[in-house]
Amino acid sequence: MSSGTIVRRIFYVLLMVVGSVTARANDGLTIPRNLDRRVDSLLALMTVEEKVGQLVQYSVKGGGTGEKFRLTEEHVGRIRAGRVGSLLNVVGAERNRLIQEIAVKETRLGIPLLFGLDVVHGFRTIFPIPLGEASTWEPELIRKAARVAAVEASAAGIHWTFAPMVDIARDPRWGRIAEGSGEDPFLGSQMAAARVTGFQGDDLTRTDAILACAKHFAAYGAAEGGRDYNTVDISERTLREVYLPPFDAAVKAGVGSIMCSFNEIAGIPSSSNHFLLTDILRTEWKFDGFVVSDWCSIAEMQAHGIAGSPAEAAAEAITAGVDMDMESGLYDSRLGDLIGAGKIPVAVLDEAVRRVLRVKFRLGLFDNPYRSFETAREKKVMLAPEHRFLAREVAGQSMVLLKNEGGLLPLKKDLSKIAVIGPLADSRNDPLGCWDAKGDSNDVVTVLRGIRQAAGRGADVLYARGCGVTGADRSGFGKAMKAARGVDVAILVIGESSEMSGEAGSRASLSIPGVQEELVQAILTTGTPVVVVLMNGRPLAIPRLSAAVPAILEAWFPGIEAGNAVADLLFGDYSPSGKLPVTFPRDIGQIPLYYNHKNTGRPAVDTSRFTSKYIDLESTPLYPFGFGLSYTRFEYSELTLSAPSIEPDRSLGVSVTVTNVGTRSGEEVVQVYIRDEVASVTRPIKELRAFRKISLAPGQQQRVDFPLGPEALASYNRDMQRVVEPGEFKVFVGGNSRDVLESSFRVLAH
Ligand code: BGC
Repeated sequence: MSSGTIVRRIFYVLLMVVGSVTARANDGLTIPRNLDRRVDSLLALMTVEEKVGQLVQYSVKGGGTGEKFRLTEEHVGRIRAGRVGSLLNVVGAERNRLIQEIAVKETRLGIPLLFGLDVVHGFRTIFPIPLGEASTWEPELIRKAARVAAVEASAAGIHWTFAPMVDIARDPRWGRIAEGSGEDPFLGSQMAAARVTGFQGDDLTRTDAILACAKHFAAYGAAEGGRDYNTVDISERTLREVYLPPFDAAVKAGVGSIMCSFNEIAGIPSSSNHFLLTDILRTEWKFDGFVVSDWCSIAEMQAHGIAGSPAEAAAEAITAGVDMDMESGLYDSRLGDLIGAGKIPVAVLDEAVRRVLRVKFRLGLFDNPYRSFETAREKKVMLAPEHRFLAREVAGQSMVLLKNEGGLLPLKKDLSKIAVIGPLADSRNDPLGCWDAKGDSNDVVTVLRGIRQAAGRGADVLYARGCGVTGADRSGFGKAMKAARGVDVAILVIGESSEMSGEAGSRASLSIPGVQEELVQAILTTGTPVVVVLMNGRPLAIPRLSAAVPAILEAWFPGIEAGNAVADLLFGDYSPSGKLPVTFPRDIGQIPLYYNHKNTGRPAVDTSRFTSKYIDLESTPLYPFGFGLSYTRFEYSELTLSAPSIEPDRSLGVSVTVTNVGTRSGEEVVQVYIRDEVASVTRPIKELRAFRKISLAPGQQQRVDFPLGPEALASYNRDMQRVVEPGEFKVFVGGNSRDVLESSFRVLAH
């Protein structure tokens, strides 16, 4: 028996003695009892090199979606030497089992590897992009979508997803706005918690659970000019009020890992930001998982200009609180020497290793290193009918009806001639959106196919592409116009291609690219009624389109059930209920434009020059935050508060009556906003504090109640303490952030 085998055996006996009984943690997750003792007994056996190995993560070339994978001798050598703790982008139950066997059987201590992948909005069953998911305003539904993603990914050798992405984004030029929940910290927090709970389940040791990773910590969405990876310079107040709440919510929901961001804040790149990674995350929030860097972000500190050498970059990162190095290799190549030279205390290394090991224990990897490598389950769960069913439901609920003049929608099912036009109408790839994991364009139901299936048997559905998403080729216009002539309706499917958003997908324009708007104008000249279905990963500035066409459905990138979901809505099987999680501007010049802005000393009055506005544009957005139409109409009445005043530590009851005054059933997202009228620091003009989706039959009425507790009324005062300040508050309730009923109450002084 080799000495490695002996050590491994002793270690596993020790683990069994220390016990694997489980206990409930405060966050509701089940964690192994005696976890810290188990971790420490393992740590005691480890060499410095083995410890460093646990902090190293590499991507395997060719491990990504659709690529041919090859594990090189170099990989095997590193894994065998215990110099790797985690791999990313390696997928497949059988493949990952073989790699795990090297780690478990051939390294001295047999510590299992952690396999990570960006499972962002589905694994094989691709759901709408997260911005679309957020438009459902239904955290429970999104929890279920994340659960499906976890079930599929965990069966294909994945233990860990780099999701949810919880960055607040107020600048739609930033391509990564597609990956998050939009501009609002409250909605973003609800979605963050839902996704964490969905991925991790309530027991991380279950083989269908995957570790979640809230990213990118922090304020990555505040990049200047919306340019990816760019500089961020915001106050601590804005950081805490706008950008941190979804991370806090993810931590409270028990997220096991956090990824730090590429950007700096006020001169400090996140990979070396001790204030963020240690003071706030560990000390204030008591986060006990581990922090992984973003891709090469440790090495990038040299380009940022705060590390003069790779060793300095590694030292800064580990000291700030980055536990695992994704891909840069600097922990692998430099940490050992830094420890040897006494430049980094062993205690700092040990703490980082403890955090990583703790999570591996929590995942049950020591008890079952081969969890998630079940080929039979892999075959069985992928694209299961109930997964597709849920994808269709989420897609349907994610779409936002922006305009519906004269009740053009829903379409009658007995139309005899329909033209489906546009470069995205029959696209199989774009509906998947960015970060589509193991999504396969062959699984996608295109809009054309969805409409063909849904239209009545006798219907004639004509198709013309018209033009490309980009480019100036108008040669297809004639054919498209011919298709549109004399039909009952022309459905134009236009927007952005999927690679125009997501990482490094920032745009300098918010227009619909290419000649697509011209195509719409050309079709309009035929006199046929036009419905526009938009696919895009960000709000677009579409004032002309919005004025010209009678009906617009914002579909985002809806995932594999795109066509079915679009057809469900267009033909009225389901009434649209999505609401915008982000403001649609009239023009790119208005950016940043978000609903929860400050009032300023001179709030905008379009007819008054010396106010906060542009002289050449209306100050309002094209479509406000929270906006979305339905095929029915909802009326709000009788907004009442439980009391005219409350003590600062008490809750206030807010009630409103919502009536379906239309002729169809429908769902409505009832939204509650507050405004602290006078405080020690200026407050936003509105802040979302509660919402609920309700379903009403025609004529049906419902009283909807919301409690507003101290957390909803609190803000950071001048001394950065979070308190409820006495004084007058307004409450607004409505179906979007603009059209609201209003009332007010006082918070009394203690
Ligand atoms: C992205 C992360 C992602 C990582 C691994 C980075 O470039 O910023 O969001 O998780 O790559 O794929």
